[in-house]
Amino acid sequence: MHKDVAEILVSEEQIQERCKELGKELSDYYRERNSVPMLVGLLKGSVPFLVDLIKRMDIDVEIDFMDVSSYAGTNSVEVRILKDIESSVADKDVLVIEDIVDTGKTLEKVCEILRSKGAREVKIATLLDKPGGRKVDTIVPDYVGFSVPNKFVIGYGLDYNQKYRNLPYVGVIKEEAI
Ligand code: IMP
Repeated sequence: MHKDVAEILVSEEQIQERCKELGKELSDYYRERNSVPMLVGLLKGSVPFLVDLIKRMDIDVEIDFMDVSSYAGTNSVEVRILKDIESSVADKDVLVIEDIVDTGKTLEKVCEILRSKGAREVKIATLLDKPGGRKVDTIVPDYVGFSVPNKFVIGYGLDYNQKYRNLPYVGVIKEEAI
């Protein structure tokens, strides 16, 4: 275990097993709709999850990426697009792939943007959900890997100051590492 990790919350084996289950559930859903979904990964945290998830999907999918930065304004959260998707989502079923939903404000904006581009449907798959941090009631992730407590977590895509994204598990960072 990494020296800056206090405790492992989700092991590598648990993540792989859950990706297998979610991959099947998603494949069944889109197969039933006769659809080739566009998976939109939010950089950079969603990359390990997206990579493992698509390998467990046995239908055709398209992938694209968006990079957004969010910062708190006076009354709302400003979400700035650093990198937009390159493909058209008009009339497509979009599945946004996220590492963790905390306040929900980033996804609220991202879903709004994707809908404004004409997506037929926008769903959310997140590796982690932190329901204790939620500040908007419009965002309910459709597919959740694991629910985690209201603590700062790292690993499997999630960073603290850009570090720890490569850990193969999700853990709680030690106080002294912050
Ligand atoms: P939201 O807009 O508050 O839902 O922000 C979600 C984003 O905040 C995620 O994509 C992460 O980049 C970041 N985030 C929220 N909680 C954590 C955490 O515990 N560890 C690392 N990043 C986090």
